[in-house]
Amino acid sequence: MTAKKIIDTYIAFFTKRGHIQISSASLIPQNDPTTLFTSSGMQPLVSYLLGEPHPQGKRLTNVQNCFRAADIDEVGDNRHTTFFRMLGNWSLGDYFKKEQLLWFFEFLTKKDTGLGIDPSRLYVSVFAGLKDIPKDEESAAIWGDLFESVNINPNGRIFFCGVDDNWWSRSGAPNHMPSGEPGGPDSEVYFDLDPSRGTLGTSFRKLSDSGRLLEIGNSVFMQYQKQQDGSFKKLPQQNVDFGAGLERLLMVLEGANDMFQTSLFTSIIRIIEVKTERSYKNHTQEMRIVADHLTASVFMIANGISPSNKEQGYVLRRLIRRGIDSMHALQGEITEPVIEAIIQTYQETDPLLVSSYERIKLALLDEQSFYVQTLKSAQKIITKKYRTIGTELKGQKEISSEDAFILYTTHGLAPTQIKSLGFVFDEKAFAEKMKAHQSLSRTRASQKFAGGLADQREKTIMGHTATHLLHQAIRDLLGNQVHQTGSNITNERVRFDFSYDKTLTAEQLTHIESIVNGVIARNLPVYCEVMPLQKAKQIGAIGLFDEKYTDKVNVYFIGKNPSYSIEFCGGPHVDFTDKLKSFKIVRQENLGKNQKRIYATVGN
Ligand code: SER
Repeated sequence: MTAKKIIDTYIAFFTKRGHIQISSASLIPQNDPTTLFTSSGMQPLVSYLLGEPHPQGKRLTNVQNCFRAADIDEVGDNRHTTFFRMLGNWSLGDYFKKEQLLWFFEFLTKKDTGLGIDPSRLYVSVFAGLKDIPKDEESAAIWGDLFESVNINPNGRIFFCGVDDNWWSRSGAPNHMPSGEPGGPDSEVYFDLDPSRGTLGTSFRKLSDSGRLLEIGNSVFMQYQKQQDGSFKKLPQQNVDFGAGLERLLMVLEGANDMFQTSLFTSIIRIIEVKTERSYKNHTQEMRIVADHLTASVFMIANGISPSNKEQGYVLRRLIRRGIDSMHALQGEITEPVIEAIIQTYQETDPLLVSSYERIKLALLDEQSFYVQTLKSAQKIITKKYRTIGTELKGQKEISSEDAFILYTTHGLAPTQIKSLGFVFDEKAFAEKMKAHQSLSRTRASQKFAGGLADQREKTIMGHTATHLLHQAIRDLLGNQVHQTGSNITNERVRFDFSYDKTLTAEQLTHIESIVNGVIARNLPVYCEVMPLQKAKQIGAIGLFDEKYTDKVNVYFIGKNPSYSIEFCGGPHVDFTDKLKSFKIVRQENLGKNQKRIYATVGN
């Protein structure tokens, strides 16, 4: 069974049970400044899990492209990748544990409508309970019945685990969750890759860590929200958030113990073998890193990211450079055939890769030459420095840990890369410096991302409404050919990107500001209507939206008969414009030829 067939089977199974298929969101989250990448299917759905009505109803399903930067150092083993696809289904306050666990079990095991996996190879875990959140006896009982229904003794198949294993939120265990964040107990399903080694006994946890048990799906019963005082309150609705790893299901179905030997990776690995004249068997780890990192890079570039020293661009740069390092270890380099093999593998499900091919190729090859250049000039700079102070660097070229650290901070070179240039240095002293540096950036990052992942704070909500006003005001002044290309809203400021070829003058910026403040002062009502996409377009709704599977959309209106602004949006928004108090443009940035960016504040 191919990856495509698994996707089709899954979507058919859940649409048959009343779910509407929604599109995969971009790898760069829209309107969610709290995280750099989309790393699970639920991420674009947070406001709906918190209670906002979804225009497509209460049962949703999709395949979401995901990137998890946290797994970058794990890549190299048999089952970790940074890029993966998640099969997801959601109940937004509709069905709950009974239907969810039954359906997932049927999807896995049924031969005609599901994947036909042997149920005797499945093990499950459920939540063991925590203070005021009860032990999940209900899920355990449902699993018990399901195993019995296929004549399997449930004893020794159902394990109770604590918060570190069977609680899910975007920020992990309950004590790591910021206030406002939704989460809940979950139930995970594992596949036994090696049943010949007998029953599991009590070593369930150890075996899932060791690689014998492979987690293949997770049903989160998302029913709690963290409160300011650290306690948990029930959400107004009981949700199901389910996710399964497509690549892992493929491993199971193809009987592979190694994800990189499934049909999703074989042609990519093969071309690396051919181009480097090395075998996967002898260079497993390097080839896994190349295959994963380049695949993730291809998807990021297709989603509009370019290598840089900031945020998403920096992660992309790191991925490409790590990929090149592994290629160098194989005496090879990134070439077009490797990029082509990746695109061919995914073209059926992600045609965007095909239409972005030229851009992807250029970005990867440019970054490769830039990196090779950087390595050369780093080597030159250091050699010259030591020569001028009279120390000729020969053989073991020993440099100070300060210099090594400068190569890290200014040239972006990691210790392994510095060593690959033939330099040696005090690695312990380097690690100390790195630790101090990282804890500083962590503090900065946590300040930046403070307030929780589901940012529903007052000023953030004001920021959403202000963005609609700004969008319309820019069009009032510059014309309707101008449109939004992106936005990013935090509790501190609004960032708005739009298409326009000239830098705006100070007068134009003041003019836009005064239009927005004028609308705020009129105290117009802000309200939402769900309507068919065609109708929304007819009445002139503007904004970013995804056409792929959408037939009904959320449209926000500001003002009635006539409305000042009509825009596609998931919300949330203030109810009347005077809640925004006042709007101020702080600065303008040039993002390139035809793109401008405005930073503004609201609510002061
Ligand atoms: N959000 C859960 C996960 O990522 C289930 O989809 O595992």
